Order: sequence, then structure tokens, then C-alpha cells
Amino acid sequence: MKEVVRANFDDSVSAYEAYERRTGRFETLARLLDAELRARADARLRTVVDAGAGTGASSRVFAAGERTERVVAVDVSREMLRAVGRGDGHPVQADVDRLPLVDGAADAVAFTASLFLVPDPAVAAREAARVLGSEGVVGATAPLGWVTADGEGVFASLERDSRSPTGADEVRAALEGEFDVATGTWRFATTAADVRRFHAIPAMAARLYPRLPPDERVERARELLEPLSGTVEQRWLWVVGTLS
Ligand SMILES: C[S@@+](CC[C@H](N)C(=O)[O-])C[C@H]1O[C@@H](n2cnc3c(N)ncnc32)[C@H](O)[C@@H]1O
Repeated sequence: MKEVVRANFDDSVSAYEAYERRTGRFETLARLLDAELRARADARLRTVVDAGAGTGASSRVFAAGERTERVVAVDVSREMLRAVGRGDGHPVQADVDRLPLVDGAADAVAFTASLFLVPDPAVAAREAARVLGSEGVVGATAPLGWVTADGEGVFASLERDSRSPTGADEVRAALEGEFDVATGTWRFATTAADVRRFHAIPAMAARLYPRLPPDERVERARELLEPLSGTVEQRWLWVVGTLS
């Protein structure tokens, strides 16, 4: 499963960057998560682990934080990591289930749109708890789907499931197992065109057509989403936790 996720993201760099340039969605998620983390840590986040850093959209946000000295940008995809900007984070190819830090070395571990991609988020949650000092904070965001103006799930009407390896409920439960958590939902007004752009990313089209090769699954997703029009709301769960 992890090998498939890694390969999917290795194939996704240009489409991912195109989507991010257009929407800024991942940077926005990181900004909102960063604010929640800092609100619980008196802004003393000297070492931040960007767990599932991708191309560094989230690393850049954490690196810009007041008093942050070091961002460790961890990702399984070497190709995604190549795009991390100099000065935004120290890229390390590693699995969030085995973070390359000693016990208590981090002030924050942030999973911006990444914890829903691991098969068992409880393992990564334990690993986050291990590398955090006693005052440390953890944060995660996970997709809750897309809703049309009628309040209907986009994929229900298209008679297709959009599945992550792990659901948002499991992400929350995993963090609740290790931390005292607060959670909520962020809602973004977006368009049918952006839903199509999102699924032009091979790793995201894999949510709809996991068994097809990258080009084919992107094409099938494009065909599926062609009839969609108008405004669509995108929802993300956020979870922030402190050690009990
Ligand atoms: C949707 S991207 C988010 C990237 C970045 N945080 C951002 O906000 O743009 C998810 C990233 O998580 C990474 N990922 C998935 N499973 C992982 C794992 N087990 N360990 C480390 N990284 C992982 C993927 O390779 C991908 O780059």
C-alpha cells in the first residue's frame, strides 16, 4: 500500500504543483493548521516536523513561523521532495511511521493532508508522540469530501466512491489514542473546474480509480467529472492535539 502511494506521488509532481499554483489549497490548509498549533504552544515551535511534506507548500508555511528554527520535511516520495525550496525545510525521504528523529526532539508534528494516506494512522500517531517533547503539539488535516450547492456529495451523484486509504474518522481516532485533541471542519468554496484539476493529479485520481495506470485513471476521472458544474464546497477535517 505505502509503495503504491509513494509511486503515485512520484508521478504527481507537475500536476500537484499546477493545482497548488491555481488554488493555493495546501498552503491554506498549512496556514490554518499552523495557527492552531501555535495557539496551543505559545508560539515556541522551534523544531517542526512536516510529516508528508510533499513539494514543500506546507514546509514553507511552518518555516516562516516566528521562532521556528528547523523544519524537517519528511516524505516517502523522493520526487515530491525534490521540489522543496531551499530554506523551507530539510528534506528527508522517510516514512511517517518511522520518523528520523530521536525521542522528544520536536516541538510540533504536522500532517498537512498526509495522515489519511497511511494504512494505519495509529502507528504514525504513536511515532509523533515519541518524537514530541512533553509540551509538543500534533496536527492533521484529512479530506471530508466535496458537496454541491444542493448539499449533496459530488461523488454520490456520479455513482462513484472517492476513497482514501484511511478515512477522516480513523485519522481523528488515531490521534485521540495518543493526545488530548480538538477538532473542527474547514469549508472552502471552490468550483467544479477545481474538482477536475484536483483529480488531474494522478495520486488523487487514484482515489477514484486505484487499479488503473496513472494516465488512464486521470482520463477516466476527467470523463467522470465532465458533467459537474457550478460551485462546490470542499471540506477538510482538522485535528490538533497535545500530550496528556
Ligand atoms: C497531499 S500531499 C501533501 C503534501 C504537503 N503537506 C502539502 O500540504 O502540500 C501528501 C504527501 O504525503 C506523502 N506520504 C504519503 N504517505 C506517506 C508516508 N507513509 N510517509 C511519508 N510521507 C507520506 C505523499 O508522498 C505526499 O507527498
